[in-house]
Amino acid sequence: MNGQNFQPIRLIDYRPPEFLIDELLLTFRLKQRGTLVQASSMIRRNPSADRRNGPLRLCGEQLQLVELRLDDRRISLQDVCVTDWELIIENVPDVFKLQITTRVDPEDNTALSGLYRSSAIYCTQCEAEGFRRITYFLDRPDVLARYTTRIEAPQEECPVLLANGNLVAAGEMDDGFHFAEWQDPFPKPSYLFALVAGDLVKIEDEFVTASGRRVTLQIYVHERNRNKCKHAMVSLKKAMRWDEQVYGREYDLDQYMIVAVDDFNMGAMENKGLNLFNAKYVLADPRSATDQDYLAIEGVIAHEYFHNWTGNRITCRDWFQLSLKEGLTVFRDQQFSADMNSAAVQRIEDVRLLRQFQFREDAGPMAHPVRPDQYLEINNFYTVTIYNKGAEVIRMLHTLLGPETFRRGMDLYFQRHDGQAVTCDDFVAALADAADRDLTRFKHWYVQAGTPRLTVTEQWDERHCTYVVTVAQATPATPGQPDKLPLHLPLLVGLLGSDGGDLAARVSCPYERRGNDLLLELKEVQQDFVFREVPEKPVLSFLRGFSAPVIVNPFQSREEAAFVMQHDSDLFNRWDAAFSLAEAVILECLAKLVAAETMELDPVYLEAIHYLVGHPTDDRSLTALALQLPAENHLLQALKQIDPVALHEARRFVKQELAGRLADGLLNLYHDNEPSATYRLTGDQVGRRSLRAVCLDYLVLLGEEQQDLLELCAHQYRQGGTMTEKIGALSALAQVPGALRDEIFDHFENQWRSDPLVMDKWFALQAASPAADTYDRVKKLLDHPAFSLKNPNKVRSLLGVFGQNHVHFHHESGRGYRLLADRICQLDPLNPQLAARLMQPFVTWRRYTKDRRQLMEQILQEIGGQAGISRDVYEIVSKSLAPTGD
Ligand code: TRP
Ligand code: ZN
Repeated sequence: MNGQNFQPIRLIDYRPPEFLIDELLLTFRLKQRGTLVQASSMIRRNPSADRRNGPLRLCGEQLQLVELRLDDRRISLQDVCVTDWELIIENVPDVFKLQITTRVDPEDNTALSGLYRSSAIYCTQCEAEGFRRITYFLDRPDVLARYTTRIEAPQEECPVLLANGNLVAAGEMDDGFHFAEWQDPFPKPSYLFALVAGDLVKIEDEFVTASGRRVTLQIYVHERNRNKCKHAMVSLKKAMRWDEQVYGREYDLDQYMIVAVDDFNMGAMENKGLNLFNAKYVLADPRSATDQDYLAIEGVIAHEYFHNWTGNRITCRDWFQLSLKEGLTVFRDQQFSADMNSAAVQRIEDVRLLRQFQFREDAGPMAHPVRPDQYLEINNFYTVTIYNKGAEVIRMLHTLLGPETFRRGMDLYFQRHDGQAVTCDDFVAALADAADRDLTRFKHWYVQAGTPRLTVTEQWDERHCTYVVTVAQATPATPGQPDKLPLHLPLLVGLLGSDGGDLAARVSCPYERRGNDLLLELKEVQQDFVFREVPEKPVLSFLRGFSAPVIVNPFQSREEAAFVMQHDSDLFNRWDAAFSLAEAVILECLAKLVAAETMELDPVYLEAIHYLVGHPTDDRSLTALALQLPAENHLLQALKQIDPVALHEARRFVKQELAGRLADGLLNLYHDNEPSATYRLTGDQVGRRSLRAVCLDYLVLLGEEQQDLLELCAHQYRQGGTMTEKIGALSALAQVPGALRDEIFDHFENQWRSDPLVMDKWFALQAASPAADTYDRVKKLLDHPAFSLKNPNKVRSLLGVFGQNHVHFHHESGRGYRLLADRICQLDPLNPQLAARLMQPFVTWRRYTKDRRQLMEQILQEIGGQAGISRDVYEIVSKSLAPTGD
């Protein structure tokens, strides 16, 4: 395999920087090719460095070095050492000024890291290591500098010129250029630098902070999108108010800017005072955006805003500490969304994502701790583990400490570390000090990969009215971590009486009460929890609200699960009972299928779902969620060796069976829950739309015999006033190949061909479809005029979604593997970050049937052998192929 010369970066090798840069003046003269960047830095030796006489080494990639000046004297480029990734200057003084001029070509930058152009807009993306693609610099997060940015650009092409901080000067120049000068008073690491220039319009509003300061809020978009920014603006103001109320954090500059760009590697970026957003997370109107889009925008806007304190004012010492800002900020945005919308629905969505993607990552060759200790390419570590398991770790601290103590801990963290670049240890220390608690064992969560498994056993002593719950924990080995330590985790539980009510208030036990819940703290490998004076044998409602990111081995009977599903006061656990029941039932059918026995639907499960359909809760979204079967991508985790076709068939059987048995009830639900004609984003309306979508998704499966059910779909597509309803109908119809499906997909395409964000949905629906012709369609769509390998949203919608289409991607012929692999190889030289993300479905190749295993192994070797393979893709390939040791 190529790429053996890529060297891992290790946490144990961390050393403080040998130099510091306090002040930086940047001047950009923007051109599509041949942009000149002048960087003038005040540099001094770091008094707390280990070494005080070494050369100056600056990071730089893909740069043309034009000129160097040290204390205003020109240095010959012959006297310095320039490699593909570094500029080394020997014999520098202890304090000096360095001026560097570099040349870059934004138009040719397809990696979307550094300075690039997207739909005629110049923009930057510097996290994690993009700043070194703009100029030579100490491109590491523990070097904090004050930035002044001067932008010069053609007035006509770029009427708008933006950078971090406050605008301090602007004016015209000769030859049609103009300039703007921005100053950011807050010292920041280079990854938070941003610049934007182009022809944009702004939507403006104002926010008055709790202490009465006025902040100007601006969203910059292309003229054609002017009317799609309202929701983003409303969301921003909600987030600003919420952070004041819940965390006591105010915004700190006079201006807060958001810019929407079409080509973006991730969701959004929290650059100080100037957030850059994937247009997908800004633009919305009821005609073209779904309820899910609206909620995602609210969440991402909040996430980036919250980074201003958790990420920007206090930043990371090094990239191993990434979860310090990401885990914490995801936790904060989850809390915010739970407060703005339905808390139970929010929690369910968060847990679904965690189980489907993070648990899968944790069980495969890319498993890593929330604070990794080694990486080849940091871009590969913006993972569900860092973000979402990281958020779970913060949530556990919140649960263990309780909301008030947690808040005191956060206050102490801000007070101690404002303006610093710190570690996860510093964060936990602040919480531990504020709570006066020892969190040593809890910190294992940061260093240990893998999803812990809990085994629960119950003992009921009728004579003494004593109930004992024994919980044992074990974390399976992960690459490089054969032996695991016990973890400290909060278990919120409830005890349900035979009438379905909570018994917790009436029992005697030493555990802290949290509302209806009891807080058990598991710290040892195994522990007994004893409850006395329990009036009757309770049904255990375990791990309420998913209080810890663990897998609980099934320990309840299906009757008990159905009971929890109907009665639990904890709405999350009601859903979770439905989810685990469905999982057990599908896996049971799969076992029968594999043993060539007839599959049957478990009557207890059918009865429970029947009840659910007949007695929907007021929160319709919850009913909708409880009706949805676990995804194949979730179910496969329970299998020793995965046969994707059998898995798909077993799940399909259960779905089809439910549809047939519950058709009347589903149809009633559908008709009883019509949303209003005008769009409103209320829980009630969102609930109606999602419940109807789920009903349709079942009912179309009966379409072969009952044509009127297909017509129901078509009717909703034609008459539905919102994109949510149209997508609901399309997504259901995508399952049934035929003339009606084709007609409606064509109609949609014709109507929306010029709206890229809507076309993304159209691509994704087809790539996700279980229909037999999916592969052929995806293949054809790769040549569709609206598709482009250069636009990450398109790549994710078509290729990313196809890679997650379990049964089609894993077609026994290997054609799915081939399709994706060829595109990855094509994409790697253009955009390695994105190419590496597409590798994800190959990573777990060892879990599949032998024929598929062999095909995927070959593909991995082939990709790994590509000439000029990127470090990004190389890391994924080599970790996937690394021997497992068993
Ligand atoms: N820090 C960003 C966030 O979580 C995400 C991010 C990291 C990013 N690297 C990126 C965004 C590269 C775009 C491109 O909000
Ligand atoms: Zn983030």
